[in-house]
Amino acid sequence: MCGIIGKIGVGNVVPDLINGLKQLEYRGYDSSGIAIINNGEILRERAVGRIKELEKEINKTNPEGVVGIGHTRWATHGAPSERNAHPHLSSNGKFALVHNGIIENADEIKNQVLSQDVVFFSDTDSEAAVQLIEMNYKGDVIEAVSSACKEIKGSYAFGILCTDFPHMIFAAAKGSPLVVAEGEKGNYITSDLCAVNDEISCIYRLKDGEICSVQKGKIDFFDSEGQLLAKKSEKSELDKQDVTKGDYEHFMIKEIMQQSEAVEKTVDSFVIKNKIQFSDVCFQEDFLKKQLKNIVIVACGSAYHAGLAGKSIIEALCKIPCNVDIASEFRYSEAFISKESLAIFISQSGETADTLAALRLAKSRGAKTLSIVNVKGSAIAEESENVIYTKAGREIAVATTKAYSAQLAALYALGIFIAKKIGKMTASQEKFYVEEMKKLPEKISQTLEKTNEDVKKLAKEIYRSPDVFFIGRLSDYATAAEGSLKMKEISYINSQVYAAGELKHGTISLVNDGTPVIAVAAQKDIFTKTLSNMAEVAARGANVVVITDEKTKNRVTDGYRIISVSDTVKEFKGSLLVLPLQLLSYYTAKLRGCDIDKPKNLAKSVTVE
Ligand code: AGP
Repeated sequence: MCGIIGKIGVGNVVPDLINGLKQLEYRGYDSSGIAIINNGEILRERAVGRIKELEKEINKTNPEGVVGIGHTRWATHGAPSERNAHPHLSSNGKFALVHNGIIENADEIKNQVLSQDVVFFSDTDSEAAVQLIEMNYKGDVIEAVSSACKEIKGSYAFGILCTDFPHMIFAAAKGSPLVVAEGEKGNYITSDLCAVNDEISCIYRLKDGEICSVQKGKIDFFDSEGQLLAKKSEKSELDKQDVTKGDYEHFMIKEIMQQSEAVEKTVDSFVIKNKIQFSDVCFQEDFLKKQLKNIVIVACGSAYHAGLAGKSIIEALCKIPCNVDIASEFRYSEAFISKESLAIFISQSGETADTLAALRLAKSRGAKTLSIVNVKGSAIAEESENVIYTKAGREIAVATTKAYSAQLAALYALGIFIAKKIGKMTASQEKFYVEEMKKLPEKISQTLEKTNEDVKKLAKEIYRSPDVFFIGRLSDYATAAEGSLKMKEISYINSQVYAAGELKHGTISLVNDGTPVIAVAAQKDIFTKTLSNMAEVAARGANVVVITDEKTKNRVTDGYRIISVSDTVKEFKGSLLVLPLQLLSYYTAKLRGCDIDKPKNLAKSVTVE
């Protein structure tokens, strides 16, 4: 949440800051701003809304400078407004600061600083930091930042300018990502390397508490005490991926259509000669065979729904109890995990604050940790003992689709892998599942093609509904939950998901004539049970639509609209059933004229708790 870019170069850095911010917009898009140093003074431009609004402001004044910082904001403290947009300036105008994270003791700091007759210009927590730095400044910025950081509670990545050092950018981080990059045309600080449009020779990731000063030809690192630090560089692995919409109207629909490829690449990365082999997973055989007593999966949002689907497959194949928790709840719960637990963390971005905190908790309890992450080198991947990388490629739409599908594939593989290791699966069963998994990409393409038109028609019917309900049982519930989240996230329709048998315990009172109820029902054993629940809502006037597969569709009673996906083994059905639901949310949101790729109030990467 919130994106930071800073550059020190030879020519005017403003165009690079703007381009960088456009790439970082996925991290927040409430407001944005830049600050540059020009003739020993800080010039600042800020605007509410998307980066294009900032660009309009900049085009009026054309500020120029060889050193600058920029920020795109997702509001936490203080409404999205120009006065709350970053960069924030210190009282005497000497410092400009951009911040990603949350300063938990901002009010305390403000009171302390206010007693020094300092004027606050915004309602943000971030401004407390820049004022505190100014208060601690006696000519040495590193010393001032180090002292300020010692007082700050919470998380931060800071980019700082100081007029006394007009050829330097300062940065500090704790609990929020910050990368320093050496490029051909200058040096950079950024929340995400995708913001840097330059040939990068090497990068440095700031660890918790570290501070740095960046000049054109020199980067110095300091520990939290302000002592010089020798820091090893990493090779930049930024592969320039296609970040255009191509022929598509939105990134979301492009990414929906890329799912076949995302799953294929993910599956190919761990299938070797019809066996599952993970390159970054190294459990001791004994741990899986003799010690492992329970598995917990922890994640947020869609990744949590992938976890629910993962529970079904892991319990079915491995016969090991598996609980799924929402990371923000798990981190403050009793969290019954021990050395005999395997804790799995799922995250597209690899930087979701709650998931990261839950991972740290699991480690402190001695559990074995494994993460399923899409972004290489991200905090969750780095801090887990074992990692499975999904190969969805860069996902730009805030609503996840291809990363979710890749997470499902990784969880299927993990279930098979553990089952095989603990002797619950034979080699021929493994081969069977792997072969089925390899057929998924083709079936994903088929399903998207064959359901597309039906889904478009359905969207026309439901897009004016005030409410929509999704129901399903067991793994179909996980799919329904994901469909419901997609719907509310991008179309802003009040969409609810319920375990199919639970509606009649209260929620059915909300079902009226014509209320759309989308039932996910593709499991042979419990199909008739969901069918009864469909009948219950239909009897109250609901417009029931069944999402099922080819094999099961003949069992659907007349009178319901059916959308059927291709057939696969029961454990993998979620990968196909979710596709028409993704399409449905997309077409519904489109008919409602919503901002599909950047829905209101959201950000792609949630780095605050
Ligand atoms: C899904 O469409 C969401 N935008 C959101 O729920 C997301 O899945 C969640 O914030 C978790 O993100 P992560 O996978 O990057 O951890």
